[in-house]
Amino acid sequence: MDLRERALDKIWFHVTPPAALRSPGGMMVFERGEGCYLTEVGGDVYLDALSGGAFVTNVGHGRKEIADAMAEQAAKLAYVTPYNFAAEPTVKLAEKIAEITPGDLSRVFFTSGGSEAVETALKIAKQYHWLGGDQKRTKVISRHGSYHGSTHYAMSITGASHDFNSKIFAPLVPGTLQAPHHNCYRCELEQTYPACRIQCARTMEKIILHEGPDTIAAIIAEPIPSAASIYLPPDEYLPVLREICDKYGILLILDEVINGFGRTGKMFASEHWGVTPDIMTMAKGLTSGYAPMGATVTSPRVTSRFEAAGGRESGLNHVISFGGHAASAAGALKNIEIMENEGMIENSRVMGDYLLEGLKDVQKRSPIIGDVRGKGLLAAVELVRDKKTGQPFAPSDMLSAKFTAKMREEGVLMRTFAVAEFGPPLCAGRREVEKIVEALEKSAAWFASEAGVA
Ligand SMILES: Cc1ncc(COP(=O)(O)O)c(C=O)c1O
Repeated sequence: MDLRERALDKIWFHVTPPAALRSPGGMMVFERGEGCYLTEVGGDVYLDALSGGAFVTNVGHGRKEIADAMAEQAAKLAYVTPYNFAAEPTVKLAEKIAEITPGDLSRVFFTSGGSEAVETALKIAKQYHWLGGDQKRTKVISRHGSYHGSTHYAMSITGASHDFNSKIFAPLVPGTLQAPHHNCYRCELEQTYPACRIQCARTMEKIILHEGPDTIAAIIAEPIPSAASIYLPPDEYLPVLREICDKYGILLILDEVINGFGRTGKMFASEHWGVTPDIMTMAKGLTSGYAPMGATVTSPRVTSRFEAAGGRESGLNHVISFGGHAASAAGALKNIEIMENEGMIENSRVMGDYLLEGLKDVQKRSPIIGDVRGKGLLAAVELVRDKKTGQPFAPSDMLSAKFTAKMREEGVLMRTFAVAEFGPPLCAGRREVEKIVEALEKSAAWFASEAGVA
């Protein structure tokens, strides 16, 4: 059996159905990565236009300095428990995170990844209100179309595959509510911006009033929803969410698991709109995938309530053995150092603009590109059967499988769910951006003809 067959035989791959994995190119085995490129076993080289396939490898593949920093720390001290021990790089990383996050975010709870970071944020919010004597404040509002992770609570607030999850994994965690999304290309409230006066955010307030403000613990949102469709909020949206939270004593959680660490052209996407959350979640770009690690960062408003409480309840009743892992922390520190020293966040902004310009140019010539949007090196191309009406392709058109396969044939790895998604490493230059645009042009023309769209 070759490596691919052995992988299919023994690895339980995430999400992808077995038949799709067994289709040509449906599952790939890689042997190395360098910068923006991945080499498959056998030697074929691809441009990695989705940072390891999941918006993770922000600084790019093959950075030996990160591996060395981790190896050195692992040889010295790999691990101590996060109950009440810390290793030096974990202390330094917490300080670094406090320094680079916006506003007064300053206390860091380390996790092993993004789902756990979200899970942690939700539990912090509940315990925060409990300590304040607001035991009824247990509900959390997220948005339709959102993605926040795979653990049961994070899945329950995930709007993107809510029908599937509530059918198969029921019962979901109670007290999880969803408000309309702010996807202006497909407004579910059938409004048009700016005439809508961001009714999507106002609807959030209506839900709060309907449920009773004293029952709502938190609102959670990605500044730019990314795992499902990638769409930018209208400029007023996040400031209005902040206002609503303040008005009703609700905590605002911003999920920067994909958005963070330079992906959108700023260290954190919330900075584009000058909004500081009470709690921020992060993972992925925190280590650029060199180690599994996430974090939940809180403001003094939150932390001080725990500090003041005293007694058993002043400790967050939540523990993750690998939180703050010393070798992972050493890798994260080196990763952030590289990002800062090599100007990758600025590069994300500049190359992101160049990418958006290229994608929009292709849109002008393509009969099937309905919308192009993005910020920094995070971009989406919405492929539709009818540009005028925005009519999507039908499942029988097999857009996702066919379009992704064609892009791969053109040498570019990306993914197509509802939209074609791009998020290359932040070290991408003009050559990589031009390659993505060229592959998109060819693949869109091919798919239009395949689907019979003139
Ligand atoms: C916004 C957001 N939150 C949370 C998660 C979950 O992170 P993880 O897969 O590291 O558990 C993801 C993963 O894609 C995400 O995009």
